Amino acid sequence: MTLDSLPTTQREVRLVSRPSGALTSEHLEVAETPLAAPGAGEVLVRNEWMLMASAYRELMNEDTGLPLPPFPLGEALTGRTVGTVIHSDDSSLAVGDLVEHFQGWRSYVTGPAQAFGKRDRAQFPGPEYFLSNGPTAWLGMVGMAQVGEGDVVFVSGASSGVGSIAGQIARCRGAKRVIGSAGSKEKAQYLVDTLGFDAVFDHHDGPALDLLRELAPDGISVFFDNVGGEQFEAAVQVASPGARFALCGALSGQVGGTDGGRPRLDLLAAISKQLTLRPFACFHTPDQIEDWNEQFARWLGEDRFVFPHTVVEGGVAKAPEALINLLERKYSGNVVLKLTDEDGSR
Ligand SMILES: NC(=O)c1ccc[n+]([C@@H]2O[C@H](COP(=O)([O-])OP(=O)(O)OC[C@H]3O[C@@H](n4cnc5c(N)ncnc54)[C@H](OP(=O)(O)O)[C@@H]3O)[C@@H](O)[C@H]2O)c1
Repeated sequence: MTLDSLPTTQREVRLVSRPSGALTSEHLEVAETPLAAPGAGEVLVRNEWMLMASAYRELMNEDTGLPLPPFPLGEALTGRTVGTVIHSDDSSLAVGDLVEHFQGWRSYVTGPAQAFGKRDRAQFPGPEYFLSNGPTAWLGMVGMAQVGEGDVVFVSGASSGVGSIAGQIARCRGAKRVIGSAGSKEKAQYLVDTLGFDAVFDHHDGPALDLLRELAPDGISVFFDNVGGEQFEAAVQVASPGARFALCGALSGQVGGTDGGRPRLDLLAAISKQLTLRPFACFHTPDQIEDWNEQFARWLGEDRFVFPHTVVEGGVAKAPEALINLLERKYSGNVVLKLTDEDGSR
């Protein structure tokens, strides 16, 4: 595209006030803004897919509780996105290249070419596959818990973006049994039937300790925690001696508004079983992304892995509703928003 045929405006989603409880559409606005023309060494990217995740809600708090700063008020939100270069003033990126970056929640973005990671379109069936939560699941399951043959694995929050990939990683690495927890019978069924979990309990069905004990009568050797709270406490009780815990998230404290992020640790049980507890943070370094994408593409090619995802259509204007629905637990897997409207507008 020549400079004069480039779009001059774009849509973006801004945080207008900080929610103190549930997120509503009042806290966000969709604004039409002028789009800066790319300057020397810059590119203009048309955003095409964006990842939705509960963590965006935490980033709306003044104190996020995460190793990331809060979203500033009055400015566009940010998040993981893939798009296509439509103008380039840098030799490292050409028009038509697919790129991944963190400037989501808007239809276009201009910036220095180095801020965009080039991706190979041929690697996956669609660009949205680059937005999987795999780097986090891989770091936790393999880097932290070192899952392998013979393990009995429990993944809490198994229908989340991270959890739905973490369980499959354990299966593909030879775990003997992969158990999950989810928030409905339908989600539990999907995890077993489509993703290959061995058994999944609905955490509404009773105390987590009873439900987990029933599915893992001989104990668990690996725990990948996305939920915290009662499920963490249950995992400590059911853990076998030497079990490894990868502590990824605390959804019951993040989305549930309870103190699930501060579960009680039965210290005597942890000491006597010599548990390894490894909290971790994945910052999606280029190496982490590349390692995961290679592994993911290989397993997909061998038909051993599914990209568990929900596609939400409707463009940037749909983003606030998509996040609210996600927080109300209406989706499962990795939730990806298609940033093009039905009529092709953005
Ligand atoms: N350590 C790291 O580097 C890192 C990186 C990324 C994400 N994380 C963390 O990993 C966790 C999963 O992230 P994600 O982006 O994959 O999540 P997500 O896709 O946003 O998960 C949404 C799902 O979480 C479940 N959920 C919501 N509220 C819950 C509650 N109160 N108790 C239990 N489950 C609840 C719901 O599933 P059900 O209806 O099945 O319950 C919901 O559909 C989060 O805690 C996130 O902050 C950590």
